[in-house]
Amino acid sequence: MENLNLQWRLLPTLTLLAASLFFLVFKDSAKLSHSECSLLPYNHYWLTSKRIVTPKGVISGAVEIKEGNIISIVSEEEWPRNSKTEQVVDYGEAVIMPGLIDVHAHLDDPGRTEWEGFPSGTKAAAAGGITTLIDMPLNSDPSTISTETLKLKVDAAEKRIYVDVGFWGGLVPENAYNASALEALLNAGVLGLKSFMCPSGINDFPMTNASHIKEGLSVLARYKKPLLVHAEMEQDSERHVKLEDDTLDTRSYSTYLKTRPPSWEEAAIRELLTVAKDTRTGGPAEGAHLHIVHLSDASSSLDLLMEAKTNGDSITVETCPHYLAFSAEEIPDGDTRFKCAPPIRDAANKEKLWEALMDGHIDMLSSDHSPTVPELKLLDEGNFLKAWGGISSLQFVLPVTWSYGRKYGVTLEQLASWWSERPAKLAGQVSKGAIAIGNHADLVVWEPEAEFELDNDHPVHMKHPSISAYLGRRLSGKVLATISRGNLVYKEGNHAPAACGSPILAT
Ligand SMILES: *[C@@H]1O[C@H](CO)[C@@H](O)[C@H](O)[C@H]1NC(C)=O
Ligand SMILES: *[C@@H]1O[C@H](CO)[C@@H](O)[C@H](O)[C@H]1NC(C)=O
Ligand SMILES: [Zn+2]
Repeated sequence: MENLNLQWRLLPTLTLLAASLFFLVFKDSAKLSHSECSLLPYNHYWLTSKRIVTPKGVISGAVEIKEGNIISIVSEEEWPRNSKTEQVVDYGEAVIMPGLIDVHAHLDDPGRTEWEGFPSGTKAAAAGGITTLIDMPLNSDPSTISTETLKLKVDAAEKRIYVDVGFWGGLVPENAYNASALEALLNAGVLGLKSFMCPSGINDFPMTNASHIKEGLSVLARYKKPLLVHAEMEQDSERHVKLEDDTLDTRSYSTYLKTRPPSWEEAAIRELLTVAKDTRTGGPAEGAHLHIVHLSDASSSLDLLMEAKTNGDSITVETCPHYLAFSAEEIPDGDTRFKCAPPIRDAANKEKLWEALMDGHIDMLSSDHSPTVPELKLLDEGNFLKAWGGISSLQFVLPVTWSYGRKYGVTLEQLASWWSERPAKLAGQVSKGAIAIGNHADLVVWEPEAEFELDNDHPVHMKHPSISAYLGRRLSGKVLATISRGNLVYKEGNHAPAACGSPILAT
């Protein structure tokens, strides 16, 4: 009797237990789906570190993350009060910085996914501490030059991106004089436009001249969006070599260098500045902005840009890690991994680029990650004139910038400014680019002092590791973890199982 009684009395308790077990299991499966996106099983947690790079300087303290956003930032002194009740990941001396925003990447998806593609490209980004990529409108097939082709991109990105991806649209002769076509493309969500002042190497992406650019700027002004320009203009009279000359040593880097002299960059920028003045306050394209991509010439081209800024043109300029890491003198014969346009110039030019970056005349950095299949790099033949031009670097831009920049005294704050804060501004991303309350929890955790050999044992997360010019280098600065909108998407060699990045469309 006593036992039976006990059973009866236990029944409500058992029911409750069963219910709570069910609830736990249910809750667990909810957690499970979350953990597909993240290598951390919770969505409310703290990160602590001795070196957190905030807009107000580097602090020792903690960042609180909830449902994808940063909800508080506290210094070490303010910290212990919460530490017992919350999930905490302590990163010790490692640096916590805003995730990198790469405004210049060619992911070649859809249409040329054998070159890269959204999954491999965004995995490389995550492994390199990049939490946002803005995809270039060319090298995919078709190019992103209309609402229809943008839709193909957005569809291709669905559930296939490991970090956030936004899209630039193309300004080409076909749409430059058609304001309604450009408006439709901007309304559909591109973050700005990109154009070329020389042949792009891609058939459905023809070059534009200053008249096309002027038209484009007048539309962009209404949207307060930028035009990114590949600023090289062919100067036949100044071509130092005749490409048809069959005595040319096509394996020699200096041959290639002579085919694209600094005067091409200078001529393009000079031409561009005739319309850049439209962007001044009170000008016909006030609100639009010009951004020069991948500047290589640190001489006259840079002087012209500095003058334009002084005159009030709305203009910025980026350069890329390969122009800061390599110089023409050290590029081996036949090593077409180093071919890009504009070309990597001599060591003196490299020094001047660093100087301009440190002095603030170059505003930001981007990867210009532009891979292809190894066959098109002609690595065996080593023909610099025929090989595909483009450097593959996505995963390594942070350690490269840091490793090569240390002797110039690069600071963590500068890295955050060049790689996060200013790129966010260019791409119109107000909730990204800084460790600040209310922003997306897009973060990279890395160890600046940790050195590694980029040898064959190093896991390289891109489709064709063999074409990267950085292989064989010793670098400093190891990415430990990458957090995208609160999801731990990369941790010490491993990616989260599911691709949960968001496509970014302008609203
Ligand atoms: C302008 O673009 C729109 C939308 O793509 C298209 O329907 C129209 O035919 C174009 N107009 C001209 C004159 O090409
Ligand atoms: C640009 O090309 C168009 C033809 O597509 C031409 O009408 C225009 O005059 C050119 N502008 C300049 C500055 O060369
Ligand atoms: Zn590019």
